[in-house]
Amino acid sequence: MDLQVKTGTWQNLKNNVAVIFAAQGNNDSLVYFPATDFKDAESLALVKNAGFSAALNEVLRVPVEGQWILLVGLGKRADVSEDCFRQAAGTAAKALRTGPSKSISFPVVEVRGVSQEQCAQALVEGALLSTYRYEVYKKPAENLKTQLKAITLLVEQANKQTQAKRGLEKGRVIADAVQLTRDLINGPSNLVNPTYLAKQAEAMAKTNKLKVQVLSFDELKKKGFGGLVGVSQGSAHPAKFIVMDYKPVKAKSTLVLCGKGVTFDTGGISLKPALKMELMKYDMSGAAAVFGTLKAVSELKLPHRVVGVIAATENMPSGTAQKPGDIIKTLSGKTVEVLNTDAEGRLILADCLHYAKRFEADAVIDLATLTGACIVALGSQSIALMSTNDKLANQLVAAGERTQERMWRLPLWEAYGKQMESDIADLRNISGTGEAGTITAAKFLEAFTEGLTWAHLDIASTAWTQQDKPYSPKGAVGIGVRLLVSLIEQWKK
Ligand code: BES
Ligand code: ZN
Ligand code: ZN
Repeated sequence: MDLQVKTGTWQNLKNNVAVIFAAQGNNDSLVYFPATDFKDAESLALVKNAGFSAALNEVLRVPVEGQWILLVGLGKRADVSEDCFRQAAGTAAKALRTGPSKSISFPVVEVRGVSQEQCAQALVEGALLSTYRYEVYKKPAENLKTQLKAITLLVEQANKQTQAKRGLEKGRVIADAVQLTRDLINGPSNLVNPTYLAKQAEAMAKTNKLKVQVLSFDELKKKGFGGLVGVSQGSAHPAKFIVMDYKPVKAKSTLVLCGKGVTFDTGGISLKPALKMELMKYDMSGAAAVFGTLKAVSELKLPHRVVGVIAATENMPSGTAQKPGDIIKTLSGKTVEVLNTDAEGRLILADCLHYAKRFEADAVIDLATLTGACIVALGSQSIALMSTNDKLANQLVAAGERTQERMWRLPLWEAYGKQMESDIADLRNISGTGEAGTITAAKFLEAFTEGLTWAHLDIASTAWTQQDKPYSPKGAVGIGVRLLVSLIEQWKK
């Protein structure tokens, strides 16, 4: 993909589809960006006759001066945000699938609350992410193939080039990272198994200069990773515990990101129903987001140490699998009565969170497709956030608003913890009542976070989309990467 910033207008570009944005102003008027390029009477009449209202993601093709203009709506002018540009750019890039042109240009604009740098970043993210496809096993049909070969960002004044270029570069790095995350999630479990994830980490050790350590199944047994061993012992694919360390020379803070990496969740002996079980390849979306975030953070050379801690395993039923009623001893020393082998994510995260204590981090954040209850409670619009630290929680909520990877905080009141007490072990892995499943899962995790500044993100409802969205085609969303990169970029101790 050829990405560049140019000063000037689309008229000078060859074989290009020029995007012009339109927003809804006062009294049904339309506001065009850039304002100067699009005001001949003929075009304006055409827009009016087509009934184009500039609603967000509305598209109209207009022939102007022998070229095609793509008019894309941003919605109400007063509500235009970074995400409107991300969506509109995604919609525009997809519109290029039909038609002969392979290059597209966007105006970089500055509107209330959105700088030229932010606009440029959002445009590149939107255009690149919208045309993503998982292409490992099948090349897309000709009519679905993206025609996009080049993106030109147009700035009006030469002195805005630096800002736009910075945004473009950031957008490119972040889109690449999200695409890696999506590929890992969309990859079927017969390809993406724990060993595959370990190899991915080792590859990133070279290309991204991360320090990587992988613990084998034997080492996990020896060192007492009882949560991860218990879950993985039924599988023919050995578990891997993966640590990736990005450590800049003068790190201002340390953040640890823990990811649930269940490459396939059958439920184990507490077997899941067959219907839609194939979706459980996405049960490693937390781990995949950690991979993407480390890739982006290291390429952007952010000034904080970021450590990724991933427990990678399958959850399978077999003659060697753990059984309901088994009691395991986790890395922390705490014992757990495993009453349902399908509540496996919390068992492996217990070991990750305990392991994270050694980094004396300023924050530890775990990401996991942890509970079906999260889908019931919040649906595909929101991540569930739970945290024992208000400052960290608020920083996450703010990053969620900025990136539109939004979240809603649920309480961790003491009373919810009662449901996770066992008569014969320190904890049980499912609640006694079946109520508030997302919260009780987090209460279980909390038991392994003494001394940590900790937040838990349940991404079960947001990591996978059943429908195409402006910049997320059906399948893996890659949720968490843009969120965490933005959090770390603006991180304050
Ligand atoms: N991976 C699932 C949670 C999940 C379900 C994620 C659907 C995405 C979509 C998790 O391991 C699980 O099975 N949780 C159980 C917990 C229950 C046994 C307490 C659940 O949510 O049903
Ligand atoms: Zn499960
Ligand atoms: Zn699971």
